[in-house]
Amino acid sequence: MFDLAPQQPAGKVLLHFSMSLDGFVAAPDDDVNWLTGITGRDGVEEEYIATTGAVLGGRKGWDRAPGARPYSEDWKGEIFVLTHHPEDATPAPGVTFLNCDVAEAVRIGLEAAKGRNLEVHSPTIGRQLLERGLIDEIDLHIAPVLLGDGIRLFDNPGGLPIRLRHAQGSQPRAEIDVRYHFVAEA
Ligand SMILES: NC(=O)c1ccc[n+]([C@@H]2O[C@H](COP(=O)([O-])OP(=O)(O)OC[C@H]3O[C@@H](n4cnc5c(N)ncnc54)[C@H](OP(=O)(O)O)[C@@H]3O)[C@@H](O)[C@H]2O)c1
Repeated sequence: MFDLAPQQPAGKVLLHFSMSLDGFVAAPDDDVNWLTGITGRDGVEEEYIATTGAVLGGRKGWDRAPGARPYSEDWKGEIFVLTHHPEDATPAPGVTFLNCDVAEAVRIGLEAAKGRNLEVHSPTIGRQLLERGLIDEIDLHIAPVLLGDGIRLFDNPGGLPIRLRHAQGSQPRAEIDVRYHFVAEA
């Protein structure tokens, strides 16, 4: 039931992250070194290179590594970075800085994606889009690690639960069973 079918290019808006088992997409200080040595399933990068037309991120992620692009150099899509002050952003080829409503940023990103998917690589933008009903799928790769602190996939203290269903299978509201063993070394 939970063997996912490959992602498809379909003009969807995806919140796409590698996430720790306890729900963090980055450690404190936005660090993602905890992903070192954690592998994806065979062919996963090629799958997302083929299906992703554009990426929407936030200024904090951009400023941490200006010019960095997701995936390998085989991915040629456009990147959009949302910021309230685009005038002092470090420019790079294929990157457009937007200062607009998140819904407008999604419209621009989907247009650039040309029928492939728009991936949102920012939890804060993802939260804004979830509140507006503008995320089609949450697409996660759950890493076998507990972080205990950091940047959450979804941080919305005091907010109401957001109900989800599985993208496929006959039990849309079922729990997924996972089981891990402790590894002594870090
Ligand atoms: N695990 C993974 O797979 C993965 C992948 C990608 C990223 N990440 C992590 O995700 C984190 C980055 O995401 P983040 O959400 O913390 O920060 P972020 O989205 O990169 O940056 C937040 C900034 O985006 C701008 N912004 C957000 N909403 C806006 C709006 N409605 N209008 C205008 N500007 C807006 C603001 O910039 P201004 O202050 O300039 O206005 C805001 O300060 C990092 O920790 C990164 O390591 C993890």
